[in-house]
This record gives sequence, C-alpha cells and structure tokens, in this order.
Amino acid sequence: MPDVFDLLVIGGTTVSSQGQSQLDIGVRDGKIAALGKLASQPTHSTIDASGCFVLPGMIDTQVHFREPGLEHKEDLESGTRAALMGGVTTIFEMPNTNPPTTTAEALAQKLRLAEGRAWCNYAFFVGASPENSHLLATLENLAGTPGVKIFMGSSTGSLLVEDDETLRAVLRSGKRPCPVHSEDEPRLRERKALLSSNPHPREHPFLRDEESARLSTERLIRLVRETGRPVHILHISSAAELPLLRQAKEEGLPITCEITPQHLLLDSSWYETIGAYAQMNPPIRSSEVRSALNEAFQNDLFDVFGSDHAPHTKEEKAKPYPQSPSGMPGVQTILPLLIDQVLGGSFTFEKLVRMGSENPASLYGIAGKGQVKEGFDADLVVVDPGQAQTVTEEWLESKCGWSPYTGQTLRGKVRDVVIGGHWSVQGGARIGEPKGSCVSFDWKEPA
Ligand code: DOR
Repeated sequence: MPDVFDLLVIGGTTVSSQGQSQLDIGVRDGKIAALGKLASQPTHSTIDASGCFVLPGMIDTQVHFREPGLEHKEDLESGTRAALMGGVTTIFEMPNTNPPTTTAEALAQKLRLAEGRAWCNYAFFVGASPENSHLLATLENLAGTPGVKIFMGSSTGSLLVEDDETLRAVLRSGKRPCPVHSEDEPRLRERKALLSSNPHPREHPFLRDEESARLSTERLIRLVRETGRPVHILHISSAAELPLLRQAKEEGLPITCEITPQHLLLDSSWYETIGAYAQMNPPIRSSEVRSALNEAFQNDLFDVFGSDHAPHTKEEKAKPYPQSPSGMPGVQTILPLLIDQVLGGSFTFEKLVRMGSENPASLYGIAGKGQVKEGFDADLVVVDPGQAQTVTEEWLESKCGWSPYTGQTLRGKVRDVVIGGHWSVQGGARIGEPKGSCVSFDWKEPA
C-alpha cells in the first residue's frame, strides 16, 4: 500500500521554462513528493486541474507592505492576503517602513510580526544607509532576509544612498545581489524647481525624467565594474537605460533587471484619466518609451517580473500633486495581468514561469522554490484559461482598496493556490488559515 498523499493535483498541464507536460502532482508534508500518472493513488484531497495550467507559485521580489509604521495603508496580513489571491506564493518585502529595516532588531521585529499572519511565504530586505554600510556584510546573512536594498533616488520613506562614495562602501560590504532603485538623487532634487505653477501628475515623468534614471544606472554599472558586486536593477522605466543594460550584460557584468507590468502596460495618457493613481517612482512615461520597454521585453533583456506593490490610500492620492504620494498596488494583479497577456498571445507561459518563478529563485538563491519539481515546496497555482477575472474593488484585498486596473476583465483566472502543501485558494475563494512561512536561502557566490 503506497503512502497516502496529503494532496493530489491531477489532470493539469504543468509549466516550466522548458515546456509543458501532463503531470499529476503528489504533495506530502508540504513538498512535491511525486510527479507522473498519480490519479489512482490514495490521497486526502484532490484538485482536479483538467483543462488548466499548473504553475509554480509566483515569486514577487518587490513589494512594500508598510508594517510597521504605516499600517493604515497595508499590513503584513492584508498584503500577503492580496498576494495569495493573485497567485503570488512568495513575497520579498522592502525596507522603507517606519522604522526602516536597517538593523538586525528591525528585521527580527518584522519576522515576529509575520509569524502566523502571513498568507504567503515571505522574506524581508535590509535597507542600506550611510549609517549601516559597515554592518551590511553581517546583516545580509541573517535568517529571513534575501539581502540588502539600495535606494539611489529617494521615494517613499527616508532610505537613501545618493553619492558614489557611500554607494561604493555599500557595494563592498557583502556579496549577495543588491536590488537597486536607480534614479539619480542630485538630478531629482535639482528638477523639483521645474514644477509648473499649476501642478498636475502629468509632470511626474518630466520632473523624474529619463535622464535621472539613465544617469543613475550609468553610475551604478560603473561601480559594479569596479567592485564586482552583483546588482539587480528594479523597475526599469526608460528607453535611455536599455542600451546600457544590454552592454553591461554583454560585457558579462553581474547585472540583472526587473520589469513591472505597469511599465509594460501603462503610459502617460493614464495621468489624464486617473491622475495621481498613475504616479509612481520611477514614473510611467510616454507611449514611445512604453513601446521600447515592450521591445526589450520581447528581446529578453529583463530577468524578472516584480510588482513594486506600493499602496497609498485614496485620501492620500487625492492630495494635490506633488503632495500626492508615489506608488500603486500590484501584488494581486501582477499574475492575472501577465496571464491575460499570455492568453492574448503576447508571450508564453514558459516565459512567465521563467521570469515570475524560476529566475527570482535562482537570482536570490531561494531554497526549494520556483519550480514544479520533486523535493521542492508545494507552492502551486492552478490557472483556468477558460474563465475570466474582472478587477473590482470587492475582489481586491489590499487595504488601499483601489487599482489602476479596476473595471478591466482579464483572460484566465487564478482558480486554486497551494501554499506549502495547504490548499489556500479554492475556486477563487480563500479558505483556511494563513500558512505562509519564512523563506530559506542557499545562495552561493558564482564560481
Ligand atoms: O512609487 C514608488 N513607491 N516607488 C518606490 O520605489 C517606493 C514606493 C513606495 O514605497 O511607496
């Protein structure tokens, strides 16, 4: 008598970056225990995934969940709940909370706060600052962190590493890949004076212009060449950075980069319709820039998808520009939007899995995640291509209660989600208790 599975996912098409296969998935003790023809095996519960795609859960390595300090915008419970409902099974949360996550104590506090409240798996970045640069090599190796985040341009919160000398010290302190918000702070500061006398969010991509992003990315690449430190450049937003990134990769520098759905899908016309709700850093830009980003995406310049989920309340967004805060939610919509694009023929499920699960796992050395593979964690998403998902405020779980995409009906539906072997979304509805756990890492320095 074979051992009973805790859960079987049968009849679906499983996806990896290498292709698709008809494989049933047997889950035991939170792990993928077997793959193959398993439909007749004994099991405690079964997900019938016939006609559906089964993906490794999405790993969103850039979200801002606001706890501690700004829980009126989001907290770890609501943010991870939004992630789960959108098929994101692991998040990495950014350090620009209050207090910022710049010390071992602040990291330990976040880990305590997440315990038993997280609907998906999690880890927390440490933030680099001029004060902690000498401690980062130690901080980056603490349990529960994927590494050190650098803000070269200021955004929400106080974290900032703006000059080359401090940046060099940060890059020399530690080894793991650093995600970087790349906008040139001195230029951003200088351009604040160019605000018109009748300010409107449409000025945002002019004030935080393409040159601000290009300059910063150029400086960063120079310092990567000098220090050899791997960096991961977040939310690429400009056409001007694309040749720099291409060249740096050709040169073999340890540089990877992220693209968000909003930079691929939105352009400056959105400032006219939704105003400050389209305001984020780095900005949404012209349709020409959006086309250039899409072309680079088709040419595989970007390594991972990230949402940059950055919730602010409607009241905060209603403030007149530039007091309106920058950032938009996205952790619940990232996968549904990308599935919609796949089903519309823009790219493949294989690429979605590569950039949404496999590459984030290999970039940060996440142990046992990112693939539907024996021995890996059972973090799974069942996508029904025959159903649709309309983005409504009722469906959204984020405390902020809005999305730039409300009213849109997306092709495909995140039907079921399994977190560490626990069936947590069933037929589009959440069930059970929060089952997320802290991510482990086995990152090794490339030989
Ligand atoms: O628009 C943004 N908002 N960009 C960031 O980098 C930070 C984020 C936030 O935390 O609000």
